[in-house]
Amino acid sequence: MRTLIKNALRSKASMDPITIKGWVRTRRDSKEFSFLEMNDGSCLANIQCIADAGIPGYADITKMTTGAAVGITGKLVESPGKGQQWEIHASEVELIGESPADYPLQKKGHSPEFMRSIAHLRPRANLYGAVFRMRSRLARAVHRFFDERDFTYVHTPIITSSDCEGAGELFHVTTHNPYSNQQPPAADGAAKPGGGQAPEDDFFGKAAYLTVSGQLEGEAFATALSNIYTFGPTFRAENSNTSRHASEFWMIEPEMAFCDLEGDMDLAEEFTKHLVNDTLENHEGDLDIFARFVDKGLIERLRFVAEKPFQRVSYTEAVEILENSGQKFDYPVSWGVNLQSEHERYLTEQHFQCPVTVYNYPKSIKPFYMRTNDPDAEGRLTVTAMDLLVPGIGEIIGGAQREERIDILRTNMQEDGLSLEDYGWYLDLRKYGSCPHAGFGMGFERMLMFVTGMKNIRDVLPFARTPGSCEF
Ligand code: 4AD
Ligand code: MG
Repeated sequence: MRTLIKNALRSKASMDPITIKGWVRTRRDSKEFSFLEMNDGSCLANIQCIADAGIPGYADITKMTTGAAVGITGKLVESPGKGQQWEIHASEVELIGESPADYPLQKKGHSPEFMRSIAHLRPRANLYGAVFRMRSRLARAVHRFFDERDFTYVHTPIITSSDCEGAGELFHVTTHNPYSNQQPPAADGAAKPGGGQAPEDDFFGKAAYLTVSGQLEGEAFATALSNIYTFGPTFRAENSNTSRHASEFWMIEPEMAFCDLEGDMDLAEEFTKHLVNDTLENHEGDLDIFARFVDKGLIERLRFVAEKPFQRVSYTEAVEILENSGQKFDYPVSWGVNLQSEHERYLTEQHFQCPVTVYNYPKSIKPFYMRTNDPDAEGRLTVTAMDLLVPGIGEIIGGAQREERIDILRTNMQEDGLSLEDYGWYLDLRKYGSCPHAGFGMGFERMLMFVTGMKNIRDVLPFARTPGSCEF
């Protein structure tokens, strides 16, 4: 039976026999024996194996090069070397799969850009192995958090006919081939671009998209099951080539019936702290590599975030802080503008120096579903939106209390040009047993960037999809 290297390394006692299987990281030979550093991805650490010349399989030793798949059977014994407790004295080695000399991960210290070009091999590199183990743990921590609080996990659809954020950043789902030229040529004989068929003739009999958010469907379930969350892939055809935007990313969206903005902000902060705490407690050594090679201050910052209360500030106050900051921003700030990443980062990194929730944004810059507040002293209209900003990243959570008053919601939708017929089901949630409710969306990759210190969203997605790039 095969033992994972992780379990071998944390064994309480010697094991004889033990079999491990994995990939060779390095090998050193002397006349009488060879040292093999083996890794199987179950943990960051390698296990050192000593294979005496002449044991079964040793004839293949020169083919057990970096990257080769190898099985080793032997005895797990205490290691005299420092840094690791256990090593394996092999009684048999088996070459399972060779790795020719052009294996791209021979040397350490490749650039992130190069690693993206070999995204099919990069999980074999220490840093990326750690990233994707962290990703798995973080997903588990998400489910644990909501499970402990009696939230029901709802699978909202990936194919939808609504544009939740109203931003028009939609990928169409169609069986029409936009590249084929199925239309008769134009009068001048020039080929017309394909597509152009009516949505009614398409697969669903209407226009359909990849979802940008499960929120609207989530609201239907929250106003039935009280507290729900979704956790799944979301898609945005947003042409932003930044280190924080991907075309396909995962979002966690809780939605709570009988909850207001205050309760929503409370949950967002508690959730963020929970994920940070879980990371600190359950990283199984993986955080060390980020702290060493990516972000020296990582662990200290995570501790700080886990312990200190977050700040809260209204949009109006935030704009005042920015206006009085004496800072020169690329995008000037005044009441009514959307906060840019440079503004968000100034607030959380310079001014408050901790995570901060900004709430009550101008109505004009936010989607139709947010609840309208009473006009402020100057008659300006805001909505119960909130964004949670963290140092190094900016926005990781966006949410709101939802408009539960059917008349106001209907007016918002009309103003945004949404079809009252298409969204009739959404209005029904206000017609039958309407109640105050609220929720938010957390970008899973942004949170993963925050807890690992990784600087680019492309490096925490197994296979990143970004404008102009859909490899693998
Ligand atoms: O602020 P957003 O657009 O909010 C919504 O979609 C709401 N419907 C959520 C809700 O209330 N249920 O997106 C939520 C979060 C952002 O704060 C950000 O962390 C992440 O999703 N996000 C992205 N992450 C990676 N790439 C992108 N292109 C992202 N767009 C948003
Ligand atoms: Mg947002």
